Amino acid sequence: MSEKKSTQDEGAWQGFATRAIHAGYEPNAENGAVNVPIYASSTFAQDGVGGMRGGYEYARTGNPTRTALEANLAALEGGAHGRAFSSGMAATDCALRSLLRPGDHLVIPDDAYGGTFRLIDKVFTQWGITYTVAAVNDLDAIRAAIRPETKAVWIETPTNPLLNVGDIAAISEIAHAANAKLVIDNTFASPYLQQPLALGADIVLHSTTKYLGGHSDVVGGALVTDDDELDTAFAFLQNGAGGVPGPFDAFLTMRGAKTLAVRMDKHCDNAEAIVEFLQGHSAISSILYPGLPEHPGHEVAAKQMRRFGGMISVRLAGGKQAALDFCARTELFTLAESLGGIESLIEHPGAMTHASTAGSLLEVPDDLVRLSVGIEDIGDLIGDLEHALRP
Ligand SMILES: Cc1ncc(COP(=O)(O)O)c(C=O)c1O
Repeated sequence: MSEKKSTQDEGAWQGFATRAIHAGYEPNAENGAVNVPIYASSTFAQDGVGGMRGGYEYARTGNPTRTALEANLAALEGGAHGRAFSSGMAATDCALRSLLRPGDHLVIPDDAYGGTFRLIDKVFTQWGITYTVAAVNDLDAIRAAIRPETKAVWIETPTNPLLNVGDIAAISEIAHAANAKLVIDNTFASPYLQQPLALGADIVLHSTTKYLGGHSDVVGGALVTDDDELDTAFAFLQNGAGGVPGPFDAFLTMRGAKTLAVRMDKHCDNAEAIVEFLQGHSAISSILYPGLPEHPGHEVAAKQMRRFGGMISVRLAGGKQAALDFCARTELFTLAESLGGIESLIEHPGAMTHASTAGSLLEVPDDLVRLSVGIEDIGDLIGDLEHALRP
């Protein structure tokens, strides 16, 4: 396909925003289309049996719109290979199945997206996989959790929803010393704020539904790696199991990714202003945000992140009912699951995104509220929170 650029070409572009806009596609040689076409074709004509024209035969195996997105994702994470999936969970499932076989063990974080925990705890354990939970911010606990049969250490940082921070470089040393692979779910930070492969991770995972897509209009996932063998396994499962995005979804995700840098800076600006407003508010008993100097992960976050992100969690002084009331009273902050879009969202993790962790080591406090800070005018956002928190 003439418009596809290789990741090596993109390596020449130093700037993140430039890569976000240009990597993966250059104007079509035939007609000059500046944006990647949506190749709404499930199959591709062949010039004789086995005579593929541009490397494509069937769209589950590959589609040019998806190829453009995959090259763009690889360039954004600074990786050799990118693979796109129909959801973050499809990407998670593919990574787990590529890494683990019956009898293997993995280390998982004590705080993580509820769906990730549900997949490991309810599905993978049925196939003879065992896991140990360790705090992402406790290197000794991670080291102690490793067993001879450990094949992977799976970390989110910052974590969803408690915003704990793991030291990626240090955890990669621990994992590699045990011959285990390190997977970083980089959904909360986005590749603009954090580049796990450069810090030693073997696989970076995204729910592209969130900051990469950025507009709450498409569900998707991604895996990026420098490891040829792992990428071959991912490609095999993309084709073999079929959890791939269609061309419209690939187009929307790539369109969103083009503005990641400007959106992330605005998400961070707004989140910092909101943290400042919430500090000392009598309705709030604690603010979980790695940008706060008193946050236990602040130093590590400052070392490995460009800025501290657009996600804030708070605990309410009035307990669970106060948390539910807060969620019910905002108007601009929409009560909804998900995160990372341009619009601000509020949710109660215990009853919503993390309900599946109830009764487990990953259970979240019931006085917790999570804010996904959007890019609206900051005065309006603070006004909405002020009103919702008024006694
Ligand atoms: C950190 C994290 N990882 C993975 C996922 C799963 O992604 P998806 O909803 O796109 O399947 C989510 C979804 O909320 C998430 O927050």
